[in-house]
Amino acid sequence: MAAIKIDGAQYTYRTGGSGEPVLLLHGFPFTSESFWPQLDAPPPGVRVICPDHRGFGGSDLRPGISTMEDLAADALKLLDALGLQSVIVGGVSMGGYAAMALLRIDPSRVKGLVLADTHPLADDAAGKEKREQVAKDVEKNGMAGYASQALNNLLAKEAKPYVRARMEAIMKSVKPQATAAAARGMAMRSDSREILGRYSGPALIVVGEHDAIAPPARAQEMKALMPKSKLVVIPGAGHLANVEAPQEFNQALGEFVSTVRG
Ligand code: MLT
Repeated sequence: MAAIKIDGAQYTYRTGGSGEPVLLLHGFPFTSESFWPQLDAPPPGVRVICPDHRGFGGSDLRPGISTMEDLAADALKLLDALGLQSVIVGGVSMGGYAAMALLRIDPSRVKGLVLADTHPLADDAAGKEKREQVAKDVEKNGMAGYASQALNNLLAKEAKPYVRARMEAIMKSVKPQATAAAARGMAMRSDSREILGRYSGPALIVVGEHDAIAPPARAQEMKALMPKSKLVVIPGAGHLANVEAPQEFNQALGEFVSTVRG
């Protein structure tokens, strides 16, 4: 695990492979470890760069709410520190929201977009209320209860017990305060449909067939917004396709990177 300092705070990240850099932003409430299948066996010619969002993994939590723009700005600082101007930017679920925020902040840094099990819509009033309940629940009761209950919705029933156990362990390792700050940040996020509609670069959209949170119908809507996008639906996977079906995910990622590289 490597680290940089951002405004005096530690920001950690993992890398794997060598070649075309691909920034991968993790989902909620996980850490960069949730990209283990991409870090351990990246597609040929791909260097994955997986930071821990503020408060998660080894990254320090900063005061206040962690907005998607905050997560994106941190990731841009990491790219600066690594001397990378324009890269393929991807994210899983909340990581996708942060990737879309990064596109909003500075499209010139995005050479290609990978949106996995995510969608561009903002939360409605009921969704915002649920975020606040999650934030209050973990602040009061810690991560354990939330983790085991949330996984039922995140993973398809076909998911391997090993994958469930590892994702549950990652969730339980996360600080409740970081989870609460990111939950409140997701509640504040903007609708990104206009941003995607303006994006004219290449994009890969990946979705698990059984994703209950950002289902294939939402992925189709994203595809319609981006003329140069490709949609891959992964059979048997749920909301965490990159760990549930790593071979299929990595193959789609590898093929996409080859087309962007030309
Ligand atoms: C995630 O996996 O990051 C979350 O399910 C995103 C969300 O709750 O909207």
